Amino acid sequence: MIETIQWTAEGVVMIDQTRIPAEETYVTCRDYRQVADAIRTMVIRGAPAIGVAAAMGVAIGVAGADTAAPLDAQVDAICAELAGTRPTAVNLFWAIDRMKKLYGQLRGKPYEEIRDALIREAILVREEDIAINKAIGQHGSSLIPDGATVLTHCNAGALATAGYGTALGVIRAAVESGKKVGVYADETRPFLQGARLTVWELQHDGIPATLITDNMAGHFLHAGKIACIVVGADRIAANGDVANKIGTYSVAVLAKENNVPFYVAAPISTLDLTLADGGGIPIEERGAGEVTHVFGVQVAPTGTDVRNPAFDVTPNRYVTAIITEKGVARAPYEQTLRDLAK
Ligand code: MRU
Repeated sequence: MIETIQWTAEGVVMIDQTRIPAEETYVTCRDYRQVADAIRTMVIRGAPAIGVAAAMGVAIGVAGADTAAPLDAQVDAICAELAGTRPTAVNLFWAIDRMKKLYGQLRGKPYEEIRDALIREAILVREEDIAINKAIGQHGSSLIPDGATVLTHCNAGALATAGYGTALGVIRAAVESGKKVGVYADETRPFLQGARLTVWELQHDGIPATLITDNMAGHFLHAGKIACIVVGADRIAANGDVANKIGTYSVAVLAKENNVPFYVAAPISTLDLTLADGGGIPIEERGAGEVTHVFGVQVAPTGTDVRNPAFDVTPNRYVTAIITEKGVARAPYEQTLRDLAK
């Protein structure tokens, strides 16, 4: 099994996702600032994995607190630093809120008791995430036909979660149920999560994977080569609008045009029912260097103007179904998502 993130006696250990596939190396974060840096620099990425990292970040922050100074202010500073890392994946804020809430219940207890309870909670967030992904897989696997070629975008696999994956979890569960399934992986410019991470992960599990560049998806959808699409999500609004990796929207529109089902697999913690629709989802804009350079090699003239939104929003009308650990939601999402979240 791929170990994305673990709590150890030395610190929070993460597989370094900026180094895959060239190297399988691990980073040990010994304080909360290092955890925040790992999220910011995408050593760890993917909405559920970011959530687990944030929970562990709060725990390691409290474990390293100055016991002679008031804890409340330190907890606030730790949470603020972690919350400032990446804006789009709501799992980050969900995990910080969960840890803050527990801290609120423990306030006034001896420091050691608070510290140990927060560490236990962070470990639980990780364990629960793996179980949630397996449940998503169970609910989603029946949607994948035997013999299907499934298109996915970005990496919504074990590496994007504590293990097993959301979109790739659905594919894993279909394979485990005895179906023959192959995957077309969009390379996912500019950060290449599809080429680097999805293909690596699928090879690891012996699931047939074919790499395509993002602009080839329409060609293969039109040619009838893709049975369905399964992607993950970073934030889903109450009406079922889905924020996911940049390029997801184009794939969803192409899917509808070609009558191919477009499924989103995500845990309930990715729902943001405070937002009526996707218009309110903050979209992270990353540095120009990710676009002007491909892993250190300059591919555009010096001084080129660049835009680099890391996510886009797919309107609910393109989403065939949303697969969660509690079941599969279909339109009207205002109703079905609220029911599942209860
Ligand atoms: O920028 P990233 O790599 O963190 O973006 C990841 C994605 O967009 C994933 O598809 C999403 O977080 C779902 S992961 C199960």
